[in-house]
Amino acid sequence: MKVLILGGDGYLGWPTALYFSGRGHQVTVVDNYFRRNASMELDCEPLLPTPNLVQRAGIWGEATGRRIEVFIGDITNYEFLLSVFRRSEPETVIHYAEQPSAPYSMINRDKAAFTVQNNLISTLNIVYAVKEIVPDCHIIKLGTMGEYGTPNIDIEEGWIEIAYNGRKDKFLFPRQAGSLYHTTKIQDTDLLWFYIRTWGLRATDLMQGPVYGIFTDETRTDDRLTPNFHYDEVFGTVLNRFIVQALAGYPLTVYGRGGQTRGYLNLMDTMQCVYLAATKPAGQGELRIFNQVTEVFSVNELAEKVQAVGSKLGYDVKIDNIENPRKEEEEHYYNPKYTGLIELGLKPHYLTDDVLEDMFRAVEKYKDNINVNAIFKGIKWVR
Ligand SMILES: NC(=O)c1ccc[n+]([C@@H]2O[C@H](COP(=O)([O-])OP(=O)(O)OC[C@H]3O[C@@H](n4cnc5c(N)ncnc54)[C@H](O)[C@@H]3O)[C@@H](O)[C@H]2O)c1
Repeated sequence: MKVLILGGDGYLGWPTALYFSGRGHQVTVVDNYFRRNASMELDCEPLLPTPNLVQRAGIWGEATGRRIEVFIGDITNYEFLLSVFRRSEPETVIHYAEQPSAPYSMINRDKAAFTVQNNLISTLNIVYAVKEIVPDCHIIKLGTMGEYGTPNIDIEEGWIEIAYNGRKDKFLFPRQAGSLYHTTKIQDTDLLWFYIRTWGLRATDLMQGPVYGIFTDETRTDDRLTPNFHYDEVFGTVLNRFIVQALAGYPLTVYGRGGQTRGYLNLMDTMQCVYLAATKPAGQGELRIFNQVTEVFSVNELAEKVQAVGSKLGYDVKIDNIENPRKEEEEHYYNPKYTGLIELGLKPHYLTDDVLEDMFRAVEKYKDNINVNAIFKGIKWVR
């Protein structure tokens, strides 16, 4: 399969490139280093220094004999994106190339405007490039469970049938996000759905929960292939952050009462889910939606798990219920469905003590790199 991975330098994009390349597919990656530059600007760089994308593709090529083609550029530039589509003629395009941080989108107006512009124009450009160059190409876009928010009803996988005044119809599940970033993901889904209805394209939208983990089978072989592992408030996801906080002797930053409940998954399962979506694609004219999570935890439960495993390893892990910088429910009903990817063949890696211990051990090696100033900045939703 010819696969084009947009955002191929990222936490998810890079290991995805290796996952597909390792299975014999022809992989092209694109990135504009937004994430690298933004983390430098905000003094929150990843735990391990990562060689640039061209260098990493070279390291992978030397180790495996497999070539990953790299383009450095901004996909909101339509001419650039078109040239990449013409060169790579993808059968599958995987869209990771967005501003992925809720706190980043809430820093100020400029960062909010950037998030809207970057995330919506990138999706729009992909839709146009597919229509113009490869209309059969399957678009796989990363959405987020955050699109649904925390409704007081069960969360379906993307769609809901509503019976009203004696008539029935099927609609996108109601969505009400808790940050500007998550709101752009809702708008992304709406953009895709509009063009699928209008032009008959095909897409899978993966409503993913927060991902944790450092390694995949392909990245474990060489530290220089490790994805950008963030532990800071801006780009780090909660479990990755807690592991680093525990190792740094920094009390785990539970926001408010800590009853915030979400669906999570291991980085290795992101690989599986995206691969399953690519190899078992949506039909022409279909917007297929999966909820991409494997387990549901509250923040308190995650903190307690990290504390328990940390203590076993000899660390004195404290938990601090700090004032919540976000505006969100701290205790709420949460019951998402997530059976679609299992039915497609997903074999989940669950969050066991062994998995947590493995993460502790991996981070321990780089403990000296931890920048405590990056851990908590207190970016407020309401000022
Ligand atoms: N990591 C998670 O836990 C998680 C959870 C749910 C959804 N997602 C979604 O998955 C996708 C990837 O997330 P991630 O964690 O890998 O983020 P990331 O920031 O590590 O990766 C995104 C990559 O896209 C690049 N990029 C951004 N805008 C670009 C542009 N205009 N042109 C070219 N490249 C651009 C960035 O430089 C970065 O390398 C995002 O859409 C995010 O919303 C991530």
